[in-house]
Amino acid sequence: MATMDDYLEVNRLNWDERAAVHAASAEYGFDRFVTDPGHLSDVVRFDRPLLGDVTGLTGIHLQCHIGTDTLSLARLGARMTGLDLSPVSLAQARRLATDAGAVVEYVEADTYSAPAALDGRTFDLVYTGVGALCWLPDIDRWAGVVDDLLEPGGRLFVREGHPMMWAVDETRTDGITLGYAYFETPEPFDFEESGTYVENDHEFVNTRQLSWNHGIGEILTALLSRGFEVTGFAEHRSVPWEALPGRMVRDGDLDEWRMVDEAERLPLSYTLQARKPVR
Ligand SMILES: C[S@@+](CC[C@H](N)C(=O)[O-])C[C@H]1O[C@@H](n2cnc3c(N)ncnc32)[C@H](O)[C@@H]1O
Repeated sequence: MATMDDYLEVNRLNWDERAAVHAASAEYGFDRFVTDPGHLSDVVRFDRPLLGDVTGLTGIHLQCHIGTDTLSLARLGARMTGLDLSPVSLAQARRLATDAGAVVEYVEADTYSAPAALDGRTFDLVYTGVGALCWLPDIDRWAGVVDDLLEPGGRLFVREGHPMMWAVDETRTDGITLGYAYFETPEPFDFEESGTYVENDHEFVNTRQLSWNHGIGEILTALLSRGFEVTGFAEHRSVPWEALPGRMVRDGDLDEWRMVDEAERLPLSYTLQARKPVR
């Protein structure tokens, strides 16, 4: 079992190795950002109707990875800072911003250290995209970080994989079977993952990942207990990657993956919006 310090090192190694592979992939499509100044990531394009106008807002993107969503938010007019644990991811994110002619600041830190790494700066918008919260052991502590990073009245925007979807046993194709904890657990899931979610032929050596699930009630309670107002909560029948292989199909209209069968049984992702109180 990993200690709480080990999880940062284990996951950093994992993401560092994946960053260059992701940056070279068709799925992340760096070249489209460079050749088309109006291009947005699939995730931000999906989010856009709920996101509303972000022009002129200062924004912090937690766990920004290689910066495609961060750059997309900058293109929508926000003044963006991206933060991530993985220096190799941030190197790719900086390269993308430079090649795309955008001004985006990037900061290397783990999410729980973000307020200190940013010297106590506060923002109008905290954004976090798919596949972020599962790398954090304690969702209540995350909500404290969001609270610290936001201006009074500032907005939180979360687009995430649904904890119900993450509780499903992805190895079973004979129906929907729960294989993992839905609620947050003290101990992480300790997975060996030999690949990644983009097409590639890289032989990965850093295959270990330590992750956690967080129930919807736990996430909402963490925000409500700090006085946040939940301004939106939408559950979606699609997710940006093939989360349950063999049972999903890419939906060209959405640019996301949905279930082939039983689509009404399982929420695959969600968008949560909340506002920090003006105390
Ligand atoms: C799946 S990626 C985020 C995906 C992103 N939405 C995208 O598609 O570009 C997860 C990111 O979280 C970062 N990460 C993992 N644990 C972290 C932590 N404790 N603090 C900060 N970043 C972390 C990883 O380095 C990685 O870049």
